[in-house]
Amino acid sequence: MSRKVLVAYATKMGATAGIAAAIGEELERGGHQVDVCEVDQVGSIEEYEAVVLGSAIYVKRWRPEAVRFLRKYREELRSRQVWLFHSGPVGPDKDQLQEMPGNVKRLAHRIGATPAMTFAGRLDPATAKGFIAKRLARSELSGDARDWELIRAWSSDIGAAIHAIESAPWQRGMDYRRHG
Ligand SMILES: Cc1cc2nc3c(=O)[nH]c(=O)nc-3n(C[C@H](O)[C@H](O)[C@H](O)COP(=O)(O)O)c2cc1C
Repeated sequence: MSRKVLVAYATKMGATAGIAAAIGEELERGGHQVDVCEVDQVGSIEEYEAVVLGSAIYVKRWRPEAVRFLRKYREELRSRQVWLFHSGPVGPDKDQLQEMPGNVKRLAHRIGATPAMTFAGRLDPATAKGFIAKRLARSELSGDARDWELIRAWSSDIGAAIHAIESAPWQRGMDYRRHG
């Protein structure tokens, strides 16, 4: 029987939560059982066979709670399928891929996760929090640049990959050793 997929996210102004919800819906459409949860609300990842983790980017950094999650669960994540994404670029640079911050890169490498997918973000005067964000939300950066089609396509690919590994578990080194 297929086990569950966790979609965990770290957000400040809600845009990344919306992306995580869309990922969850698409994975469910693909036949997976999914929990979508803010990273700080995750008490254990024991029941999940795959984890999708996403963070908003602020000043080229991931949200601290997302980094804490990677650090806390790094050993468990090594034996699971892990996909990372971050949400950030807005305005004229909305299509620009964002590098993973150094601390995230090092943790991703340890876990064996592929580089984070970049999704464009949202900077909206109605949801902006804090003086700087509110000011930027009234500049040329203003708007909701989230590309739902791209988000759904990426999620659908992930869903297919999880099914593929479920039906060929020897592709996952840790499982092979555990059961072998
Ligand atoms: C002060 C500030 C700094 C930001 N820095 C970056 C950045 O370095 N790279 C980036 O791609 N986006 C940056 N953004 C854009 C946000 O990441 C984007 O609005 C994102 O969708 C917010 O996600 P959230 O609503 O989940 O918090 C910044 C936004 C603000 C307000």
